[in-house]
Amino acid sequence: MTTAHTAFKNVVVAIDGPSGSGKSSTAKAIAIRANWKYLDTGALYRAATWLAIEKNLDSGNKIVEAIKESPIKFNCDPKNPLISVGDIDVSDAIRTLRITDQVSQYSQLPELRSYLLELQREIISESTNGIVVEGRDIGTVVAPDADLKVFLFADLSARTARREGELKEKIKSAEVSASLESRDLKDSTRKISPLRPAQDALELD
Ligand code: DC
Repeated sequence: MTTAHTAFKNVVVAIDGPSGSGKSSTAKAIAIRANWKYLDTGALYRAATWLAIEKNLDSGNKIVEAIKESPIKFNCDPKNPLISVGDIDVSDAIRTLRITDQVSQYSQLPELRSYLLELQREIISESTNGIVVEGRDIGTVVAPDADLKVFLFADLSARTARREGELKEKIKSAEVSASLESRDLKDSTRKISPLRPAQDALELD
């Protein structure tokens, strides 16, 4: 369905897929090559989760209020995609296992999703020329009119190997694999904007 608020003026490339499928590397590489901006929407959900845990907040409304006090800012340069909450750079802190294991639970909260949906659309509208946006619901919900939608698949062993390489902590393969599977299950079965390919997405293994 085409709606005025999602018809962006600039070029939008949507890259969705499960954890560890290679969305970030692909999205950043395209953005660098095309000289476009880059938005990692998972980082926004991770930053909200970091804030919720820091402040011990359990409801979507409380988390949204906390974000209004300490805004989440994402630097859309694909060569330097830093993220901050208020004055704090949380780029490393949001990648720990503690956040990774809890992010899907917070990502289900409707108030938080609708707040971050507007934030994502604002960031996309502000980008000039083009932007590559990666996440779970970009092609289906955030930018249903995107010029190109890609849905990336990869089997669990490939995704586990990729995640192990990215992790700053030393964690056993079996644990990384179980954590990926459990997060994908939560992300693809949640009520609001679950992970799934858009009908017009190009599906790539
Ligand atoms: O891409 P990632 O692994 O950093 O994303 C972390 C979590 O954020 C993911 O498990 C679910 C949530 N997420 C979401 O609900 N919608 C998005 N568009 C992006 C991420």
